[in-house]
Amino acid sequence: MVSRVIPVDTFDLVIFGGTGDLARRKILPGLFRRFCAGQMPADARIIGAARSEMDSAGYRDMVRAAIAEFGGEQACDDATLGRFLEQLSYIAIDARGDGGWAELQEAMKGTDRVEAYYFSVAPALFGDIAERLQKWGMADAGARIVVEKPFGRDLETARALNKTLATYFNEDQIYRIDHYLGKETVQNLMAVRFGNMLFEPLWNSQYVDHIQITVAETVGVGGRGEYYDKSGAMRDMVQNHLMQLLCLIAMEPPARFAPDAVRDEKLKVIRALDQPEPHHVVRGQYQAEPMNEAENPGYRTAVENARSRTESFIALRTEISNWRWAGTPFYLRTGKRMSARSSEITVVFKDTPHSIFEEDAGRHRNVLSIRLQPNEGITLGVTIKEPGPGGMRLIDVPLDMTFAEALNPEEVEQVDAYERLIMDVIRGNQTLFMRGDEVEAAWAWTDPIIEGWEARNDVPKPYDFGSAGPTDADQLLRREGRAWREVTT
Ligand code: BG6
Repeated sequence: MVSRVIPVDTFDLVIFGGTGDLARRKILPGLFRRFCAGQMPADARIIGAARSEMDSAGYRDMVRAAIAEFGGEQACDDATLGRFLEQLSYIAIDARGDGGWAELQEAMKGTDRVEAYYFSVAPALFGDIAERLQKWGMADAGARIVVEKPFGRDLETARALNKTLATYFNEDQIYRIDHYLGKETVQNLMAVRFGNMLFEPLWNSQYVDHIQITVAETVGVGGRGEYYDKSGAMRDMVQNHLMQLLCLIAMEPPARFAPDAVRDEKLKVIRALDQPEPHHVVRGQYQAEPMNEAENPGYRTAVENARSRTESFIALRTEISNWRWAGTPFYLRTGKRMSARSSEITVVFKDTPHSIFEEDAGRHRNVLSIRLQPNEGITLGVTIKEPGPGGMRLIDVPLDMTFAEALNPEEVEQVDAYERLIMDVIRGNQTLFMRGDEVEAAWAWTDPIIEGWEARNDVPKPYDFGSAGPTDADQLLRREGRAWREVTT
């Protein structure tokens, strides 16, 4: 494999919540993969900080086990793992007290390197940790903090959180993660839109009939029932991941691929988003797998709340009130326990104004589908003549560019979203992170929708395990003469 990896400057990364699920599944295996790829300098330090009493040797054992479990195929040999683990240490810390902070301060003292603090903890602790970082002299101008979602649960809490963080850090020190922005194809969205002449002139309500964004998952709520039942698909997925995808597909071309240029344009999209009409929102809750209820229970059993009104599925229709998009529907859909794991953005172009082919009774539309996962790639449906005799019969065929086929997979290094984003933190590049005003604008759009459900005592519709969601979601498009793309892998 030809490596195009550019090593980052050396750094100290403190992971608060360093023994937690996200650290073990994503952050630490991701760092190890970057180490294997030669991107992480040999003198960089990673300090796990969490409540559990443990020494650094114990932490290294924990990380070794996490990498064995979640490291993925690219993890390299044992000797390299040994060298990586040597760069790790651990400090038991009390986020709400003084325990461990002196030790951390000592460890971070006087280093002339990038300093990053990853808040991989419950949001309730963000303020406590930020305050202590300042109290112990670690919130200097060079420090960067990385904050995980959920960033608040509504506009008010997000604002309060922004305000708290702003007490100790400047906006250019705060990296709010939305891991969808780190996905390869999500970045490709911008390359496709702004690196080609072909699409941009057609990218507006004059040529586009509608746009669909689907993020379908096969997993259920798993062990996260308590968190999820207080959030639901709207807060867990739409307010952040789907909103970000919508921004990237709909935004005006930024003048440069630079953090604020991109984020300014995304913010304008969110602020121009219409509130969906109540009948343009469909909520659902998944049912148990038939004959296998014990293993795959229904939503309410999984979250242990027999009267839950939280949605595990949502489909909605909205519009963007600006010159480019006025009148073009955007349909968003996401859910758990659906028929396939599939994230896809589909741009459906309008019909040709007039058909010159007499034999042609059908409706032919160019469809550009951008597949985020799995099998990342882009397909453009084009209309051609069906080969052979029989007159001008038209058929639609895909111009397919599945990246794994087009680009030799052996030659392309796969970088997980978290790996990319952590390296961006070290590089000091905020382009793929959410700015405070963006998060607030997203909540300002989401809140009234959720409040509407609460006021109406809205109850989500049940939907079958392994389906495409409640049938009402199909109706949402059908009554406008449209249809969802099939959810397939
Ligand atoms: C997380 C949500 O942010 O994204 C989860 O909290 C969801 O509920 C996950 O499963 C989906 O991420 P991915 O990368 O698997 O599509």
